[in-house]
Amino acid sequence: MKAETERSEVVSHFDESSSEACVGCDLEADLPPSCPVALVIFGATGDLAARKIFPALYNLALAGRFHPDSRIVAVGRKAFDTPAYVATIAPAISEHSRRTVDAEIWTRFAGQIGYLQGELSDRALYESLAGVLRSAVMPRMRLYYLAIGPDQFAIAAEGLAAAGLGSAVFDGARAGEEGVVSRLVVEKPFGSDLASARDLTRRLQGAFLERDIFRIDHYLGKETVQNLLYLRFANSVFEPLWNRDHIARIEIDALETVGIGTRGGYYDRAGAARDMLQNHLFQLLCLTAMEPPASLDPEAIRDEKVKVLRSIPRYEAAEWRSRSLRARYSEGRSPAGAEVPAYLREAKVAPDSTTETFVALRLEVDNWRFAGVPFVLRTGKALDRRSSEIRVVFRSPPRALFSSYGGELGHNILTIKIQPDEGLWFSFNMKVPGRPRVEPRDLRFGWSEGDGLPEAYERLLDDAIRGDSTLFIRADESEAAWDLVDGLRRSWGEPVSQGAPASRGSSASRGANDSATLLEYPAGSPPLRLPGVFP
Ligand code: BG6
Repeated sequence: MKAETERSEVVSHFDESSSEACVGCDLEADLPPSCPVALVIFGATGDLAARKIFPALYNLALAGRFHPDSRIVAVGRKAFDTPAYVATIAPAISEHSRRTVDAEIWTRFAGQIGYLQGELSDRALYESLAGVLRSAVMPRMRLYYLAIGPDQFAIAAEGLAAAGLGSAVFDGARAGEEGVVSRLVVEKPFGSDLASARDLTRRLQGAFLERDIFRIDHYLGKETVQNLLYLRFANSVFEPLWNRDHIARIEIDALETVGIGTRGGYYDRAGAARDMLQNHLFQLLCLTAMEPPASLDPEAIRDEKVKVLRSIPRYEAAEWRSRSLRARYSEGRSPAGAEVPAYLREAKVAPDSTTETFVALRLEVDNWRFAGVPFVLRTGKALDRRSSEIRVVFRSPPRALFSSYGGELGHNILTIKIQPDEGLWFSFNMKVPGRPRVEPRDLRFGWSEGDGLPEAYERLLDDAIRGDSTLFIRADESEAAWDLVDGLRRSWGEPVSQGAPASRGSSASRGANDSATLLEYPAGSPPLRLPGVFP
């Protein structure tokens, strides 16, 4: 009865502000934004919804990319009616939107939101949701966004499928409805190792077809990351040099100055390798190293990325150890002067935690294009600088002509600046004016002017709503990346399911020769300062 009341409340809220949705809309041919969508957000009272999802949707609305007949069903556990819930979203949008709030657009956007209370483990929630979605005012293109804890992904997907809202054969019966499109968006982490990732994939695919599952890696939504494909394949100067004959090494960084803040409960179980390396850094590596795809079709691009991950050798434990370095931050100050407590003193971190907050590793993509070229990947929190970038370091030119000048000729370096200072830098050797000397100079292109670049979530939501999966992770990509991260973590003595050694923290984590090298990039800048290197 309660479910029925809530369903009616949401539907009547939409009734007041709309006409029948999808009139004259052909779901096969018409794509949003010309066609409306029913967007269901699970976890609607959480942090992600407030900081990222709603501000992104609002900015899409501002740009005319969110159809005025689209509906948002916000699902949460807290007791709100729709007006009370919408009143919590307004300040979140003001705070996090990249554009200022326009009163008229906000009023219309607010009218598109309805709130539905429920427990994810309760069948009644999905039944009442099905009632809302089957009302005539709701669009027939549906998108379910799981902005919830990873342990609840499968529960929600299966709850939807059991109520006939999924897209795969579930429990022997075909789920879904005639003339309805149903898609599922999942946020990382997709599992915590290969075995759990496979288990999650199996359960999600039991409820939705793989083509309808959109796994978000928000790095792929960043304009500077998407530009990698354009840079490589829409220009003729780079690709002929993009191989082992001309490249000395490739360095990929995602360095943060912030600590883990209030996320100790999640982070202490994850660590840098699972939180950042398995997804964001490996994705950057894939886009940097992949072969040109046969087309811009999502599957063609994702096939090439999987090939890169499969070309990385599965090293033996001793080899992984000598190629990697991990560390954990100790007490200090951020570059902006804020105090950062030692990791072990952060809230919700176990006092005997062995979780790493920094990881660096050197690996190879062992294929015809890149065999022998080191790829150095580094990521960490509470560091002395914030910088996400990819540096393609070209081989040094022969120095015979300039040998009398002394010293080495610098490498040409192409730096793809992901953030901050989004742009592209190219460093090359120039003559010092007035002197017979050579020095490196940079050619710098930056994007940070004007309105700013769209937020990653705007692009990703827009694509998921339109059903374009190019920027989302396929199950086999995620699993190939887990396979690598499992090998690395096992070499550190960390527990990994599937026959991992049980001992913790027993093994040294760095190869004596490698640790300095892993910290000294980029050449010429001060080495990365790392308090608390393990062991
Ligand atoms: C998230 C990680 O995926 O990415 C966070 O869970 C990290 O720990 C964040 O801080 C970094 O994202 P960005 O866009 O700020 O580089």
